[in-house]
Amino acid sequence: MKKILVINGPNLNMLGVREPEIYGKTTLKDIENMIKNAAEKYGVLTEFFQSNHEGDIVDKICSCFENKVDAIIINPAAYTHTSVAIRDALSAVKIPAIEVHISNIHLREEFRHKSLTAPACVGQICGLGIYGYIAALEYFCKNKEISK
Ligand code: DQA
Repeated sequence: MKKILVINGPNLNMLGVREPEIYGKTTLKDIENMIKNAAEKYGVLTEFFQSNHEGDIVDKICSCFENKVDAIIINPAAYTHTSVAIRDALSAVKIPAIEVHISNIHLREEFRHKSLTAPACVGQICGLGIYGYIAALEYFCKNKEISK
């Protein structure tokens, strides 16, 4: 069975409470359940990881190599704009990844326009709200790269 790891970075544990006018009112738990249910329909296993700590996210990405993860969906949150370490980890494991942002980072403050992590990903989805996670999942499930 194919396995997809969904990683959420700092402050995304606060979804539902955090700036609902930007990120909506859905909690991270609800988003994870939504992804899990959608993945089950494709016969794909999901694992979820959230951390507020850069090194823990790097460790998790590196562990994907041994754990035979087939694809990664990652919202690096604020680390998107700062983390060479997360970008390098994604490049190191060479597992296809899609970067997701709930908000449209290009419509927001200038410091959010640049993603250091996106160049290590297959693509980036932003501004589609929580549907972005499902769009990423469907890409992987319908793409022969992981659903052989
Ligand atoms: C975010 C956008 C980032 O700029 C921000 O730091 C986040 C969330 C998003 O999902 O829209 O924490 O990644």
